[in-house]
Amino acid sequence: MTNMKQLLSLAAIALSCALVTSCSKSDTASGGGGAADKPAGKKVSVGFSQIGAESGWRTANTDSIKAEAAKRGIDLQFADAQQKQENQIKALRSFIAQGVDVIAFSPVVETGWQPVLTEIKKAGIPVILTDRAVNVTDDSLYVTFIGSDFVTEGQRAGEWLAKATGGKAVIAELVGTPGSAPAIDRKKGFEEVLAKNPGMKIVKSQSGNFTRAQGKEVMESFLKSPDAKNITALFAHNDDMALGAIQAMEEAGIKPGKDIIIVSIDGVKGAFEAMAAGKLNCTVECNPLIGPQLFDAVNDVMAKKTLPKRIEVKEGVYDQSQAAAELPNRKY
Ligand code: AHR
Repeated sequence: MTNMKQLLSLAAIALSCALVTSCSKSDTASGGGGAADKPAGKKVSVGFSQIGAESGWRTANTDSIKAEAAKRGIDLQFADAQQKQENQIKALRSFIAQGVDVIAFSPVVETGWQPVLTEIKKAGIPVILTDRAVNVTDDSLYVTFIGSDFVTEGQRAGEWLAKATGGKAVIAELVGTPGSAPAIDRKKGFEEVLAKNPGMKIVKSQSGNFTRAQGKEVMESFLKSPDAKNITALFAHNDDMALGAIQAMEEAGIKPGKDIIIVSIDGVKGAFEAMAAGKLNCTVECNPLIGPQLFDAVNDVMAKKTLPKRIEVKEGVYDQSQAAAELPNRKY
């Protein structure tokens, strides 16, 4: 009998321990941040799902994340999704299966994340979004979003162009990946400026998917259209597409930066070289070097600190007059 009593009380202790453990797991999942405490000497593991390698910006972003993880001794599980949402979702599920401490990712498009984020939350793994935001009804599905303000970048491009052209421009637009946060927001910001400048109009607009090859292809087709000679300006949602378009213009006998004024976004080295050569007029900076901010946030999450829902990245605007001086300082 005494043995039975002892057995029952041991079972009760075991049950309450199990409940405490599962409660603290689901607390973590509710978005408050805080993976399980690490035993001393065990590396923090982070699963990172990257969009792909579509641009110079993206490569710099990947390098920054990998370098910072190595510097801090993080066990980084890195997956390249080759611009496909289904590959990102597979990677996120494999991070759950591996039981990483923190999951971070840069979502290729804004929508379609709610189910997998809910699975991650149930597994009690905190999520950090980098670079691009998601469109979900429950913002407790992620701890924080570290990235640029893409609407502001679009506004900056529009304001620069309005000033450079005296508010008169017939514009061709190279749009980023359809459905992606930077394509949606940069267009929105740019068009806000156009709404205040009736002399500026977008006459052609098509996606070049943020790549140099597609930027060139789409610009070639713009230049073949019967009204191509009316185009006085190009707004490219990133530098890679602008650099592809510059090639297309040169092959068509058009002087980029003179016959057609070009403004783009990112601030990659190639854009500064094109500005120094007089072929690109302005680039609005979008800073990809967010590795240090990402792993500061990982540290805070592991220490169960509360993070702001939005962490912004600092950036500027550069034109041809600053290109030569700034070129040696560019890190990407
Ligand atoms: O999300 C940031 C954008 O993605 C960059 O402007 C672009 O170059 C990249 O592919």
